[in-house]
Amino acid sequence: MKNFITAILAWAGMIVAASLANCATAGDSASAPTLKDAYKNDFLIGVAINQRQFTGEDTNGVALITSQFNAISPENVMKWALIHPNPVTNAYDFGPADDYIAFGEQHHMFIVGHTLVWHNQTPRWVFQDENGRLLNATNAADRELLLQRMHDHIQTVVGRYKGRIKCWDVVNEALNDSSSLNDTNLLRRSSPWVRILGVDFIVKAFQYAHEADPDAILRYNDYSIENPAKRERLITLIKYLQSQHVPVMAIGSQTHANLSWPGVELEDSFLTEVSSLGLPTHITELDVNGSQGGQRSQSADITQNAQANGGGSQVDSAPEKLAQQYANLFKVFVKHRDEIKLVTFWGVTDADSWRRNGKPLLFDGNWQPKPAFDAVIKAAQP
Ligand code: XIL
Repeated sequence: MKNFITAILAWAGMIVAASLANCATAGDSASAPTLKDAYKNDFLIGVAINQRQFTGEDTNGVALITSQFNAISPENVMKWALIHPNPVTNAYDFGPADDYIAFGEQHHMFIVGHTLVWHNQTPRWVFQDENGRLLNATNAADRELLLQRMHDHIQTVVGRYKGRIKCWDVVNEALNDSSSLNDTNLLRRSSPWVRILGVDFIVKAFQYAHEADPDAILRYNDYSIENPAKRERLITLIKYLQSQHVPVMAIGSQTHANLSWPGVELEDSFLTEVSSLGLPTHITELDVNGSQGGQRSQSADITQNAQANGGGSQVDSAPEKLAQQYANLFKVFVKHRDEIKLVTFWGVTDADSWRRNGKPLLFDGNWQPKPAFDAVIKAAQP
């Protein structure tokens, strides 16, 4: 009998423990500190979200998004290939983007649009004529056609969400990626936008976006701009745009970090130098890659992501190193709170991440906060 009672008590204890574990997502506890509260006097805290989240299917993800964050970015659904896959007039697929924006409005979040003009996730037809011939920089009619397409795209997409999307990544990753200070090419030569239109595509993209929504904050967004060569190119580009009165209104620093890069000094000097441009800075795609492959590469080029994902192997003590790197970065962000208006994480949980092998986010695949979450909360305290 005694054994039976002991067994029942043990079983009941297991059930209680299991249900407590199930409930213990960071979003559930009313008293636990949240990211958006911890940084409410500093900057907005955003997150990139996917379709399962903004349609409500991923209920645990939604609980975290609505409790922890006050800004959202669309991880994929507003990229050209997804929102405007076909060339024929009105061949837009607005459904997912409409749902994304409805989600943001329902939860009173700051809604970001990502991204209007990029060389990746853009259909091939954009850079071809009706016969499949590549458009050519030396042909005035070709250039005109590409500008016309870009104009129609920006006017249609920005115009549709005018006043609702508060901030747009207008141009993504246009700078030359070389780490050599001697490489004097400003822009990324492998981009068809650069090859066909040169710097004009950046000028026009911002002008068209501003025409379509004069109140939207227009961002130039790129990665590895902390590093000396790319940082210098960023400053040259933005100063040129400013000299031409191009409406570039914020710098987006993607900040796809790893466990040691960017270091505190590099990040600090980057934020200081960039602030001299007189524009606010947004940290737009923050994650900290803990995979072995990710320690060798600082590139966030999506075509090289397999290497950065590191085949699944984490470095030793990755969770502790992750927490330390997040703490370091957030301390620098707080130091620069006057210039930084928004810090956005590139995904909710490790399982959602484009670098899921690197377990780069604050919540694990079971929606539980990791040591890095506590480190970020703690970094907010003076
Ligand atoms: C990534 C998404 O997270 C992936 O789901 C997709 O397969 C590729 O693009 N820089 C950017 C983002 O500006 O749009 C990229 O997002 C990550 C790098």
